[in-house]
Amino acid sequence: MKIANCRGQEEALNLEDIKKMSYSWNVVSEVLRLQPTIAGPFREAITDFSFDGFLIPKGWKLHRAVHGTHKNAKYFPEPDKFDPSRFHENKIVPYSYVPFGGGAHICPGREYARLQILVFIHYLVKRFRWEKVIPDEEMIRDPILRPTKRLPIHLYRHESC
Ligand code: HEM
Repeated sequence: MKIANCRGQEEALNLEDIKKMSYSWNVVSEVLRLQPTIAGPFREAITDFSFDGFLIPKGWKLHRAVHGTHKNAKYFPEPDKFDPSRFHENKIVPYSYVPFGGGAHICPGREYARLQILVFIHYLVKRFRWEKVIPDEEMIRDPILRPTKRLPIHLYRHESC
């Protein structure tokens, strides 16, 4: 709303506005920490290696579970608490926060996703308030996280926008 108030009613967002949306992105980041879109990527061992005392033979299929670190108090104190300020403090240990994966195959669409999400949130918050039609709608993974009934909502337009 601070960004919206600095702009004319019909003026479109620009990249400078997006860069200022650090609080909104911290909120999105915390959502992606607690409910990552995918549960983690798969890999294949291309050589024998050992990890944490376990021998992993070449050819084995590996799954890196995102919640191994996202819900681990060693990296995220009080891991079940929704707290966007964790990202504000900038103390995230490298490779502990991986909703977009990491390494050579990190999601190449992550900056585009960030842009889309922030623009969507901006106009949604600026123009509407909303209520969920099904307050306790169940979320499932198939394998991507999604609401079972497609998240129907009632939208109410703010009078001034
Ligand atoms: C919130 C939105 C998104 C999330 C959470 C997400 C997450 C991920 C994750 C976890 C991976 C696997 C990384 C790995 O294997 O280590 C991935 C890969 C990938 N993503 Fe995304 N993604 C998102 C949006 C997008 C968008 C918008 C695009 C394209 C415009 C995209 C294109 C890709 C591609 C092409 C790969 C495969 C990369 C590779 O294997 O080298 N993603 N994404």
